[in-house]
Amino acid sequence: MLYIGIDLGTSAVKLLLMDENGKIHNIVSREYPLFFPHPGWSEQNPQDWYAETIEGIRELTADCDKSQVAGISFGGQMHGLVVLDENDEVIRPAILWNDGRTGRETDYLNQAVGKEKLSEYTANIAFAGFTAPKILWMKENEPENFAKISKIMLPKDYLAYKLSGVFCSDYSDASGMLLMDVKNKCWSKEMMEICGITDQQLPALYESYEVVGNIKADLAEKFGFNSSVKVIAGAGDNAAAAVGTGTVGDGMCNISLGTSGTIFISSSSFGVDDNNALHSFAHADGHYHLMGCMLSAASCNKWWMDEILKTKEYAAEQEAIVKLGENQVFYLPYLMGERSPHNDPKARATFTGMTMDTTREEMTQAVLEGVAFGLRDSLEVARSLGIRIERTKICGGGAKSPLWKKIIANVMNLKVDVIESEEGPGYGGAILAAVGCGEYASVEEAAGKLVKVVETVEPDAQMIEKYEERYQKFRKIYPAMKGLFQELAE
Ligand code: XUL
Repeated sequence: MLYIGIDLGTSAVKLLLMDENGKIHNIVSREYPLFFPHPGWSEQNPQDWYAETIEGIRELTADCDKSQVAGISFGGQMHGLVVLDENDEVIRPAILWNDGRTGRETDYLNQAVGKEKLSEYTANIAFAGFTAPKILWMKENEPENFAKISKIMLPKDYLAYKLSGVFCSDYSDASGMLLMDVKNKCWSKEMMEICGITDQQLPALYESYEVVGNIKADLAEKFGFNSSVKVIAGAGDNAAAAVGTGTVGDGMCNISLGTSGTIFISSSSFGVDDNNALHSFAHADGHYHLMGCMLSAASCNKWWMDEILKTKEYAAEQEAIVKLGENQVFYLPYLMGERSPHNDPKARATFTGMTMDTTREEMTQAVLEGVAFGLRDSLEVARSLGIRIERTKICGGGAKSPLWKKIIANVMNLKVDVIESEEGPGYGGAILAAVGCGEYASVEEAAGKLVKVVETVEPDAQMIEKYEERYQKFRKIYPAMKGLFQELAE
């Protein structure tokens, strides 16, 4: 049988066709626009996601035996606020995970409601990108739109709704709304009250691998599929990526180098970081995870290459980098503010340490290193909780770069296991579809059988020492700049 995994990303939707043995038959990617209507705001049109997904499914399955397609599932960009009116029309563009407009609402939640209460209700505190602060923002700034809300959903749930007609979400993605009681896997009454919404406006919750319904008959006909094709709930992109890299069960780690950068630690039991610097979310395997999220990761390199150096030769630019661990230039990767661990939407990117002899290569290297140092910040939080990690999987566009993987291994002192394909969320989505269709008994069984490590990047003792020294310097830059970032934002 064939399974479709849909990775609804920020720059594009990536669709992947996998068979029951995990073999990838086809991958298709279709881009859509991302809008920054004000500095620090980030929006997309859900209609664009759907239109490109429909075209993508058509293209993906053009040459396959369509009667073999059995299930579709998702890994979706998390936290985005999608709102529909009573006629199921999108009320306003989706406000995305990396949108920083909700500083006031986040402060209100963390200070007036209080971090302790939020953590008690949801296992998390408020971050600007989370969904609940966005609902409060709409209530305050767009009361007419707020009054029209009939359905609140996350980005991938919009696709599931359009494909199946079922208003649903899954526990992993819903964890990031700050509306769900993560420990007990249900909507929080207290949070609904705080946001002025009811459970009628929220989707039914499923495990990521559960079937929510069948594809709508007209779509099945359009694609040439059987009407029995199942739609499976899917997961937030990080949980789906973790499934796609075999980061399931207890104590496994995955790093995603996509538009965002995340470090994801799976856990068989529920747990909370006392300071809530790491998110405590449900996992797509039915258990839980802790996660740190940087808002700009591979997007820093993309910005540096595309917008500043005006080149598409990413690999060639990196080939010239040789002085690992000795760069005097530092880069703070906060192009969209930062989530983990600083929780500061006003933070900004900076370069520092340049001299007259600084080269283009050193600046590029600083960008790659700055992202690795940012991920290390979250790893340090996990280490401070007594979590011992020696190795990690890696996925996302940035994972294509051998140099970046080497930098990460040495900055973080982790063995980096490289998977056959770096298509984390799409592959994870297809695995969830296969589990939902009964091909495998559990997500863990499927990931265990299908995910293959092809290479391990080992850290090097000398390099670890050099990078340790540089990381200790990097850590001092944000605290030194913080006051100025606040001033600059006023
Ligand atoms: C995770 C997060 C990002 C998005 C990217 O909390 O906000 O990783 O899911 O798509």
